[in-house]
Amino acid sequence: MDLNSRIYIAGHRGMVGSAIVRKLQNSGYTNLIVRTSSELDLRNQLAVEKFFSEEKPEFVFVASAKVGGIHANNTYRAEFLYDNLMIQNNVIHQSKVQGVKKLLFLGSSCIYPKLAPQPLKEEYLLTGLLEPTNEPYAIAKIAGIKMCEAYRDQYGCNFISAMPTNMYGPNDNYDLNNSHVLPALIRKFHEAKTEGKTEVVVWGDGSPLREFMHVDDLADALLHLMLNYDEKLFINAGTGEEISIKDLALLVKKVTGFEGALVFDSSKPNGTPRKLMDVSRLRASGFTHKIGLEAGISSVYAAFKAQMERGETLTMR
Ligand SMILES: NC(=O)c1ccc[n+]([C@@H]2O[C@H](COP(=O)([O-])OP(=O)(O)OC[C@H]3O[C@@H](n4cnc5c(N)ncnc54)[C@H](OP(=O)(O)O)[C@@H]3O)[C@@H](O)[C@H]2O)c1
Repeated sequence: MDLNSRIYIAGHRGMVGSAIVRKLQNSGYTNLIVRTSSELDLRNQLAVEKFFSEEKPEFVFVASAKVGGIHANNTYRAEFLYDNLMIQNNVIHQSKVQGVKKLLFLGSSCIYPKLAPQPLKEEYLLTGLLEPTNEPYAIAKIAGIKMCEAYRDQYGCNFISAMPTNMYGPNDNYDLNNSHVLPALIRKFHEAKTEGKTEVVVWGDGSPLREFMHVDDLADALLHLMLNYDEKLFINAGTGEEISIKDLALLVKKVTGFEGALVFDSSKPNGTPRKLMDVSRLRASGFTHKIGLEAGISSVYAAFKAQMERGETLTMR
């Protein structure tokens, strides 16, 4: 990939897509192709065909997807399956038709079986049943991985897939009904502090272990993979480091400066006890993340506060 290669970033306004754009721009890539979903609905086969035949991208990052938390995944099961299959089928197929040199498809750690051993290794794919609440989303993502593999096998396409862990960073979703744990904690602690509340309640007993990666580290990893990784087997993208929800909440409490109490509501579900990616293959390919969790949360919170002070609305999806 040269600095003037034609690079299409599908989903460039999302958390991951916008980080890829920042990374490419900061690295000197000048010929980026982007479209919003209202300019180009990637579910529309004819529109995607026209776009690819006109723009002829040489490299493609597939960071477009219908994404959401447990509630949305479980409520809009048909949409999560239909939209994601349509988006990825159209983009991957047209990339083959137009001779794209390399494509990177993004999945998620929810592709792994609910009871897979931890840390999650790539080889555990399709060894057991999925978590029922996000099964439609996971099935679509698994189909995307298999489509990249099949297009490589049958047509010789250099299409690769990466499975990121939980991300946080700029352009995150702060809708409390539908957000991931870290942005939800940042918002809860910030609001408790500004409203002078005496406590913040966190669901569960705080024991589950989770992994978090700053999205700028992910974008670094994805560019690294685009430049260096050409294997059929998809690859996990994470930090390989875990933290309990309790320690995470304490870290967010410290960063936001909330001085009240932290209370765990053990009557609420904990979710799966541990979720950690095995990142041995990513490390072996020559990549290690750089942004520590406290530094990352501090920078995200600084941006969040500045946004609130400017009176801007938070991203809600
Ligand atoms: N966030 C995480 O923690 C995380 C973790 C693991 C994996 N991932 C993966 O990373 C990818 C991106 O996630 P994200 O968190 O960046 O999601 P996001 O912030 O919700 O962004 C998704 C993007 O997809 C685009 N999109 C959705 N439907 C579309 C359609 N019909 N046509 C065209 N574009 C459409 C949206 O475009 P517009 O803005 O123009 O509407 C949006 O910019 C997903 O595949 C996800 O599975 C994310």
